[in-house]
Amino acid sequence: MHVILMNGSPRQNGNTAVALKWMADELRQAGISTETIQIGDQIIRGCIACEHCVTSEDNLCAFHHDGINNLIIKLRQADGFIIGFPTYFGGMPGTLKSAMDRLFYAGKRNGRYRNKVGAATVLVRRDGGPEAFNQIITYYHLTEMIVAPLQTWAVRHGMKKGEICEDVEGRQTIRRHASAMAWILKMREATKDSVALPPAEDRIVMNFIR
Ligand SMILES: Cc1cc2nc3c(=O)[nH]c(=O)nc-3n(C[C@H](O)[C@H](O)[C@H](O)COP(=O)(O)O)c2cc1C
Repeated sequence: MHVILMNGSPRQNGNTAVALKWMADELRQAGISTETIQIGDQIIRGCIACEHCVTSEDNLCAFHHDGINNLIIKLRQADGFIIGFPTYFGGMPGTLKSAMDRLFYAGKRNGRYRNKVGAATVLVRRDGGPEAFNQIITYYHLTEMIVAPLQTWAVRHGMKKGEICEDVEGRQTIRRHASAMAWILKMREATKDSVALPPAEDRIVMNFIR
């Protein structure tokens, strides 16, 4: 089993990096391999609604110049994803939002993220974390992913690099969150041949245009 961790911060080795390292350590202790990829410091443009990903055979994005298509391929092969990021004005940072729209609009085509396990971890100095967290969870829900359960809010505190290390409660909840994710991954693996997924159906799409 393999989990991709994505860091949505533009800062190398900041608080998000520490939170993701704690999660990766816990997963590896549970026998799950991990790969962490920094995306918040890249130049990533947003989705332009060209629908290339909908009509092309590989369902990849029309923009090949940045790393989004490589990441989509990795996500399709992984069993789960974790997205870590700092809160900016009560939401996710702009670069991460650009990446998320493309990773999920193109990447999910033909149910390719269905039944994968998702988790997220959010950094704040002070406030706005739950709103930012819920933005990410929406991507998971709309792609039929399984969201790992939490003991409490997935929000960790810190401003300057490394301050998260003082958030003792945050560290405990991160550890528990990662171990809950590992448990779901193992359940999913153990039942893949014995418990059938609900059958896929063609979507009925209405645009509310009369
Ligand atoms: C542009 C910008 C906007 C921010 N907005 C918020 C915010 O709305 N709420 C908050 O608590 N912290 C906010 N912060 C603080 C960061 O979320 C916080 O410093 C976080 O720990 C940074 O994580 P990193 O070290 O991984 O980059 C903001 C920081 C920046 C640079």
